[in-house]
Amino acid sequence: MTTPVRKLIAGNWKMNGLGVDLLETERLSKALTAEPAHCRVALCPPATLIERMVRELKGGPVEIGGQDCRAEASGAFTGDISAEMLRDAGAHLVILGHSERRTLHHETDVDVAAKVGAALRAALEPVICVGETLAQRKSGDALSVVVRQLRESLPALLAGHRFAVAYEPVWAIGSGLTPTLAEIEEMHRAIRETLEASFAGSGAPILYGGSVKPDNAAQILAVKEVGGALVGGASLKAADFLEIIRAA
Ligand code: PGA
Repeated sequence: MTTPVRKLIAGNWKMNGLGVDLLETERLSKALTAEPAHCRVALCPPATLIERMVRELKGGPVEIGGQDCRAEASGAFTGDISAEMLRDAGAHLVILGHSERRTLHHETDVDVAAKVGAALRAALEPVICVGETLAQRKSGDALSVVVRQLRESLPALLAGHRFAVAYEPVWAIGSGLTPTLAEIEEMHRAIRETLEASFAGSGAPILYGGSVKPDNAAQILAVKEVGGALVGGASLKAADFLEIIRAA
């Protein structure tokens, strides 16, 4: 099995953040410049802040990403944003297939795979999210659901490209609940095996996401095959996000 070298700690601001919140980002960047992290650090703000954040953090250690993109490069899709637009704004990553998109916007694995293709076309690193619901966990189907989601969300053209997978149990997002460390390890092993079967040797990091906080980050990040974290709520405050980064 290939274990990725540097962990990736990515913050997902979701639909949070105004210009004034760039002060938090500056604080984070300054702290990481003074005290360089052992891991990669990324922030995915709402699209309205990407360009400003890129400008503010230019030359610093924090990479910037989007939270979604449409598969098409341009066209009559009111309200949507393309991978090319994210790249043009200065983003280098994009979160795709987050459960909030899958649920609220009815995105299917096929849609996610098409978006992954778009991200690669625009030279963005996709962070592809998968995860089971509480009902699926309770019925003992978590592994099979996640493996199937993963297989169908990853287009074959990913081979040879840089990408990450984020395992985010839907029931752990924003709830304060997390799976046990053994459950996380079991799922990450299954994801690694699935990746190895399709993209042998890619070393893509497998992030854990869902209620990662300063007080549980070290334990979760020490689990075998956990190659980083996708952090929602706790990425909004520089002090909390920094603690998680330090735990990596
Ligand atoms: P949370 O969100 O850390 O607030 O649970 C994680 C996510 O949805 O990416």
